[in-house]
Amino acid sequence: VRVTRTIPDLRAALAPLRSGSLGLVPTMGAFHDGHLSLLAAARTRCDAVAVSIFVNPLQFEAADDLATYPRDLTRDLGLAEDAGADVAFAPSVEEMYPQGHATRVVPGRVARVFEGAARPGHFEGVCTVVAKLFNLVAPTVAFFGQKDAQQVTVIRSMVADLSFDVAVEVCPTVRERDGLARSSRNVLLDAAERARAPALYRALRAGRSVLDAGGSPEAAARAMSDVVEDEAGIQPDYAAAVSPEDFGAPRPGAPVLLIVAARIGRVRLIDNILWDRA
Ligand code: PAF
Repeated sequence: VRVTRTIPDLRAALAPLRSGSLGLVPTMGAFHDGHLSLLAAARTRCDAVAVSIFVNPLQFEAADDLATYPRDLTRDLGLAEDAGADVAFAPSVEEMYPQGHATRVVPGRVARVFEGAARPGHFEGVCTVVAKLFNLVAPTVAFFGQKDAQQVTVIRSMVADLSFDVAVEVCPTVRERDGLARSSRNVLLDAAERARAPALYRALRAGRSVLDAGGSPEAAARAMSDVVEDEAGIQPDYAAAVSPEDFGAPRPGAPVLLIVAARIGRVRLIDNILWDRA
């Protein structure tokens, strides 16, 4: 993998790769199996693969969350090499946001509910960095994980609204054996917190059972909330059944996205599953 740290270096590294399709896997590093599945999908689908590794300060609202976000660039670059990535872009904050950088990409309503309500400014930061990465890399396809379902919806909407010429491909959530969705933040859980964390996935499965049995989205949401309270001993930040299109009320007869978020110790975890009647 050719490692680039600056925008001119990135452009030079990508220039010879532009004759075929180019996949971009945008990441904040601290790779786990979820990231590796995105890299594998990009390697299968595209002629060339670029991966960005950048802990984006614009999408963190709390300074301690940014400071404690796991980082291991040396390990990530080894894994990117093993996964067959052609180019890795690991810029400094100054390279991405030099003095005077002021423009922001402000997403619409879908970015203000659920994760957006809990983390004001988060999706503005995500859209700003992803738009910048799309402009720098000009990928044919960009790969994102289903675990961050609301991020996917926000980015799809940005791509449509700003006419980015990029296909957004979404890869399934990768889980631990006990169902916990892989996340870079999982390493921040202590042993007792880690034991409570699978309650989120069990809550989603309880919600799915309610929908399978013909229950309403509201009943599914209540069942999910009960499981988080009973099994993790906390109130979830939210547990809801929404439309995957816009995170509003589910449409009759259409797929339903079950979403849950909870803070376990210092770590805020999110998860979701898509329910389809079929
Ligand atoms: O999903 C992430 O890791 C980040 O939000 C992303 C898309 C790399 C933007 O910083």
